[in-house]
Amino acid sequence: MDIRTICVHGCDKRYDSTGAVAVPIFASATFAHPAVGQSTGFDYSRSQNPTREFLEHTVAELEGGAEAVAFTSGMAAVGALMELFSPGDHIVASNDLYGGTFRLFSHISQKNGIKFSFAGTPQDIETAITPATKAVFLETPTNPMMNVIDIAEVAKITQSKKLLLVVDNTFLTPVFQRPLSLGADIVLHSGTKYLGGHNDTLSGMLVVNDAALSERLRFIVKTTGGGLSPFDSFLIVRGIKTLAIRMERQQESALAIAKWLTGQSKVKKVYYIGLPDHPGYEISSRQASGYGGMISFSVDSEQTAASILENVKIIKYAESLGGVESLITYPMLQTHADLPESERLARGIDGCLLRLSVGLEAADDLIADLKRAMNS
Ligand SMILES: Cc1ncc(COP(=O)(O)O)c(C=O)c1O
Repeated sequence: MDIRTICVHGCDKRYDSTGAVAVPIFASATFAHPAVGQSTGFDYSRSQNPTREFLEHTVAELEGGAEAVAFTSGMAAVGALMELFSPGDHIVASNDLYGGTFRLFSHISQKNGIKFSFAGTPQDIETAITPATKAVFLETPTNPMMNVIDIAEVAKITQSKKLLLVVDNTFLTPVFQRPLSLGADIVLHSGTKYLGGHNDTLSGMLVVNDAALSERLRFIVKTTGGGLSPFDSFLIVRGIKTLAIRMERQQESALAIAKWLTGQSKVKKVYYIGLPDHPGYEISSRQASGYGGMISFSVDSEQTAASILENVKIIKYAESLGGVESLITYPMLQTHADLPESERLARGIDGCLLRLSVGLEAADDLIADLKRAMNS
C-alpha cells in the first residue's frame, strides 16, 4: 500500500465495534482480567495500551518494520536503546549529531561504561570499529550540518561484522527515507518533530525488523517505564495522518527558500541536501525519495545571525523542528550548547550558523520575513 494511504488510515488494528474512524484514547492505567491467568491482551499501560499499540503498529508499517516501540520523547528512545549495551561495549557514531544525543552518549552512557568513537564516512566508520564494537549509530542527514552518509554502504560493513546499525530518521521520515530497507537494524525517531508535526507534544520511536530485538526493547520499556501516554499517542497518530502531504509541501518551500538564500550577499553558505551542489545530493537522490524541509545556513557575521533571530516575525526563534510552524534555531546556543567549544567549532557550529525548519506557511511570506529580518 502507498505510504500516503498508510499515513491517513494507520494500521488496521481496531479496538471497539462502534466503527470509530479515529483511534480512541484509552485513558486507563490498568485493565481488568476476565479470569485467573487470562488477559484481554492488555494488563497495565506501562507495558502496553491500545492507543499506543495503534501508533506503534502504524509507525512500524510506515518504516517497513515488524515492530515499533513508542517513548515519551526522542531522548527517551535513545536512552532505552542504550540499555541494549553493557559496560565495555563500543559504539561508532556520526561525528555530527543532535546535541542532546551527543550529551546522552558523553555524560550518561560513558559513565555507564559504554565507549564511543565518532566518524563521518563509511571508510572512517570501518577504521573506528574495534573488537568491542557492538553498533554503529547514524544520523543522515545530520543535525545541524546536513551531512549525508550512504546507509547501504555502512550496512555492508555492519552486516559483515555482525554489528547493529541504528539510523536516526527524524529529518526525512519514512515518507522520504526507509533505512530498514537499506540494511539498518533499528530506526529511531524524535516523533516530536515531523511525525507529530504540530509542535504540541513530544514522542520518540524505535522501529525494528527482528523479533528478538523487539522483545528486548519491549522488556526495556516495560521495566524502565518510558512508554508514551495514550493521549500523546493519539496526538502522534493524528499528526501522522497528514505526514506525507506536509513533507511534500515543506520540501517544496524549503527548496524555494534554499535557492533564495543562495543569492543573498549576507549568506555565506547554504546547507540543503536538495541543492545539486550539496556534497550529499547524489547519495540522497539514490537512497531517499525527497530532501526534506530542513536548511542550515551560515551568515556573514554574528550580528546578522542575531538580527535574523531577533527580527523574524512569522518564523519563531525556538528549538525543535518538523512542525507546521517554521522555527529558526541558533545551534551554538540551543541544540548544541552542551558540546565542548572545540568540538562544536570543528563541526562548523559557530556563531554564524542558523538552522531553519520550514513549516507550512506560504514560502513567499517566509522569504519576506527572512529578508526583512536580515536587513533590520
Ligand atoms: C535528530 C534528532 N534526534 C533526536 C532528538 C531528540 O528528540 P526529543 O527532543 O523528542 O527528545 C532530536 C531533537 O531535536 C533530533 O533533532
